[in-house]
Amino acid sequence: MVVSSATIDSLLKEKEQYPPPESFRRQAVVRDPKILTDAEKDPEKFWADQAKELRWSKPWDKVLEWDPPFAKWFVGGTINVSENCLDRHVTSARRNKAAIVWEGESGERRVFTYHHLWREVNKFANVLRSLGVKRGDRVTIYMPMIPELPIAMLACARIGAPHSVIFGGFSSKAVQDRVADAESHVIVTADAGYRRGAPVLLKKAVDEAVEGLPVVRHVVVYKRAGIEVTMKEGRDVWWHEAMAKADDWCPPEPMGAADPLFILYTSGTTGKPKGVVHSTAGYLVGVAATTKLIFDLKEDDFYWCTADIGWVTGHSYIVYGPLATGATSFMFEGVPDYPKPNRWWQLVEEYGVTILYTAPTAIRACMRWGEDWPKMHDLSSLRLLGTVGEPINPEAWRWYYRTIGGSRCPIVDTWWQTETGMVLITPLPGIATLKPGSATRPFPGVAAEVVDEKGHTVGAGRGGYLVISRPWPAMLMTLYKDPERYKATYWSQVPGKYFTGDGARLDEDSYFWLMGRIDDVINISGHRVGTMEVESALVSHPKVAEAAVVGKPHALKGQALVAYVVLRTGEERSEPLKDELKKHVRAEIGPIAAPDEIYITEKLPKTRSGKIMRRVIRALVSGQEIGDTTTLEDPGAVEEVKKWLEAVEGKAP
Ligand code: WTA
Repeated sequence: MVVSSATIDSLLKEKEQYPPPESFRRQAVVRDPKILTDAEKDPEKFWADQAKELRWSKPWDKVLEWDPPFAKWFVGGTINVSENCLDRHVTSARRNKAAIVWEGESGERRVFTYHHLWREVNKFANVLRSLGVKRGDRVTIYMPMIPELPIAMLACARIGAPHSVIFGGFSSKAVQDRVADAESHVIVTADAGYRRGAPVLLKKAVDEAVEGLPVVRHVVVYKRAGIEVTMKEGRDVWWHEAMAKADDWCPPEPMGAADPLFILYTSGTTGKPKGVVHSTAGYLVGVAATTKLIFDLKEDDFYWCTADIGWVTGHSYIVYGPLATGATSFMFEGVPDYPKPNRWWQLVEEYGVTILYTAPTAIRACMRWGEDWPKMHDLSSLRLLGTVGEPINPEAWRWYYRTIGGSRCPIVDTWWQTETGMVLITPLPGIATLKPGSATRPFPGVAAEVVDEKGHTVGAGRGGYLVISRPWPAMLMTLYKDPERYKATYWSQVPGKYFTGDGARLDEDSYFWLMGRIDDVINISGHRVGTMEVESALVSHPKVAEAAVVGKPHALKGQALVAYVVLRTGEERSEPLKDELKKHVRAEIGPIAAPDEIYITEKLPKTRSGKIMRRVIRALVSGQEIGDTTTLEDPGAVEEVKKWLEAVEGKAP
């Protein structure tokens, strides 16, 4: 990546502070800030102490072997992830505790106790074995948000077969590319999933994907929707038929600490998907420790992470982290506004959700629908809130804090990535004083820095590149079959340090303020401005629900700012409103950041994980080549954004 200037100007300044409520602090898992200084003095000891809470088939000889940029954690140890997520609890008082509570889109409910989940996983592990899956073989899983998805993942972990989960909203082409890259002999899928009442035909997509892929020998199909599918003789197997014959005990395979647990394909809006490879022991230690300490988990919590398991957030914080810590993890198949925008709040009330972890994009959508929807429900069971996925603008933070959290719940704004496997920058809710919009400080044992392009630390108040300066247990091991790309993408910009690709600023209290992807930084008259800051300023206007800001070439200024704005429900578009918004940004962050053009639109184009497709918008409004569109994660994205732009600009008053 070419980075043209040393630092990024950071213009936003947020002043509010929220210390932990005394009642929360008194009962918190982490009450003593000494955890941070102790871990900083001896990070390996901190991680070794965390690792001791797990069940090992053989203890490790060495905590860390660091041969940059390749790290091996808990060298010499052997461990099984499914044994730690299941057997360890089944032989404890948690045996009959709910492990997974599930609600389907149309309201069906299922509860799996640890014992029941353990039996299902054992059986499915035997099904996989009977289909010829061996230790080290990659299994592709393409399923809706149903309990059989984590069951399949844990079964893979049990027999030491790395899984590759593909988000159930992806196309058959995306499945094909990933299956081909991973060379999976077995795919696990369902006849269909549901989205807003309509079936999503997964088996049909798999049929199209595996055409011409002789590597695939078997497809296991779970009957979720009961719709008709074609079953290919000798290749396709019904889940329920295979499970009926399977034995309910499958010994867990003792895996080497550095054996891969899974591959998860990730990509931005361009470029061939990267197969991020995560390890067994380091990953498990990282997600277990962060789940317990950040989400402050207690035995009686009802924990809900709203992500899809197809993304890393679901892997780490619906499945592996919560189950490794013996929590009750809630899974919801639907969306927040179906059938009505009170669905989530109804679930919080009915189940008595205590911890809610979601994304800023969802919070802004809820703000847009208005607070009457959450106000219909009793949300007093909530005691902790979390966010992940992008910087949360202070306006959305405050709304989440007051309207959802009743001004009593701390918010953990957690920064991390598919590659990092676990949260790296976050408040610990019992000790951190929160500032809306800041992810606060690194997790114990983690070293993060803000540097310029030469790798020199930049001072407080100045923006730069976020790097991680020492290995952490859940870090990616490599990119699947592509160690050169691993080195080039993450370790070549700043020698010896992991390059996150995000911009950030440290304030005078050494709090981190994330500024979005570096690619989204705009150069205006010599100032480098993070588009996220301008978006945040726009969203702080009471009539605005969401905003996307991109740069386009400008003869005098270098780049001009173009803003796309979604109004809150009930607000009308008008020319004076646009002027008002420009004035508002000028007042909030300064004249250079005032958008040159503002378009009011109904919605913003987003990736399936909810991130605004700024890169595609920017390329199109700047008249640039987007490059080889066949390698896009979603080849339809460019067409979609083109259509969206035509509609927006055609309609603009
Ligand atoms: C962004 C999701 C600011 C960031 C777990 C990162 C955030 C990318 C935050 C990774 C946060 C995630 N504050 N930005 N709390 N959390 N991001 O791989 O740009 O889907 O690099 O992993 O999301 O996205 P990914």
